Amino acid sequence: MRTPIIAGNWKMFKTVSETLAFAEAVKGKAAVEGVETVICAPFTNLPALTEAVRGTGIKVGAQNLHFEDNGAFTGEISGVMLKELGVDYVIIGHSERRQYFGETDEIVNKKVVAAFRNGLTPIVCVGEKLEEREADQTKEVCKVQTEGAFKGLSKEEAAQVVVAYEPIWAIGTGKSSTSADANEVTAYIRTVLAGLYDQATADVIRIQYGGSVKPENVTEYLGQSDIDGALVGGASLQPDSFVALVEGAK
Ligand code: G3P
Repeated sequence: MRTPIIAGNWKMFKTVSETLAFAEAVKGKAAVEGVETVICAPFTNLPALTEAVRGTGIKVGAQNLHFEDNGAFTGEISGVMLKELGVDYVIIGHSERRQYFGETDEIVNKKVVAAFRNGLTPIVCVGEKLEEREADQTKEVCKVQTEGAFKGLSKEEAAQVVVAYEPIWAIGTGKSSTSADANEVTAYIRTVLAGLYDQATADVIRIQYGGSVKPENVTEYLGQSDIDGALVGGASLQPDSFVALVEGAK
């Protein structure tokens, strides 16, 4: 009942010309029946990308936004600006933003609210550091981050959020969480959401796994009861690999 969603997070990779070449290469291949496909590109590439994928079934996401709609915030980009470009999704609270740019749960929440205010769907990232996993704090960390991100959201808004569970130690390291472990955490996140709202709402919220997902393991993750998609970094950068990820989610 939950449509699987494969989202590529390109991080700080690709120029506009590389983006156009990618879009051309995946056109007609990366949108398959029953799977939602999203490419989250750097801000500079969004105008060209939204134009290039128009009518292909591929949706476009940003990787961040500011929580105000406009103002004296040098270097920032707002939800109003993204919406006008035809962007549908926005990644919020990625661990790299939390780690390198000081994003707290409170900032993440403000950004989630800003996304809804502007008609954008948030992909909210949560996940534990290696030392937290080793101290058996994985669930507590995910609970606090999830509750923080969803603060003040209505049931209707909550139902649209995509959560991405990304254990930080598995990002870009080649070390992926086992599918069973990842499923245990995503199922736990769903119980947290049921506690915040109700079971029916929690049951429609899509929860992705992220962390060294590739064409070879995507089907295994998506075969789990509570994993509804993948947020993919490295393996989303090559057209063939991206198409294979989408195919693997069918
Ligand atoms: O947001 C995606 C991510 O952080 C995982 O990156 O390269 O391990 O797929 P990667």
